[in-house]
Amino acid sequence: MVKVQTEPNATLLDVLREELRISSVKRGCEVGECGACTVLIDGKPVNSCLILAPKVEGRSILTVEGLTRNDELHPLQESFIEEFALQCGYCTPGVLLTAKALLDLKPSPTIEEIKEALSGNICRCGAYQEIINAILKTSRKLQGKSD
Ligand code: FES
Ligand code: FES
Repeated sequence: MVKVQTEPNATLLDVLREELRISSVKRGCEVGECGACTVLIDGKPVNSCLILAPKVEGRSILTVEGLTRNDELHPLQESFIEEFALQCGYCTPGVLLTAKALLDLKPSPTIEEIKEALSGNICRCGAYQEIINAILKTSRKLQGKSD
């Protein structure tokens, strides 16, 4: 648990980046359109630029740092590397968290369901096909199916 004292008008994005120095949470459009600032709140993807920090008191916030366990990458992170699903990497933390929330809810998503889930995450580098491939690969891995 982390305790932070904030201004009442500070966004969750402000607190994560400026107070807690979690720079994986990216500052993009700041109006809820790019998804670069996505975090999971109680397992659901949320644009941290749109939510005031005091509103999340007592709730579970997951950033991409929380995906690794005992210094091991999450299967999604491994698949993103294997499938070259990132270029500049600016969208990647938000995309990974959105993908995690999707796979937690739907372990075998269709391509359409992946596209729908990612509709709020813009990749300026256009790595969408590789991102979809990586998510499909992770789904197979998590279910013990080989490629
Ligand atoms: S910075 Fe939050 S959605 Fe773009
Ligand atoms: S990899 Fe560059 S924005 Fe997605």
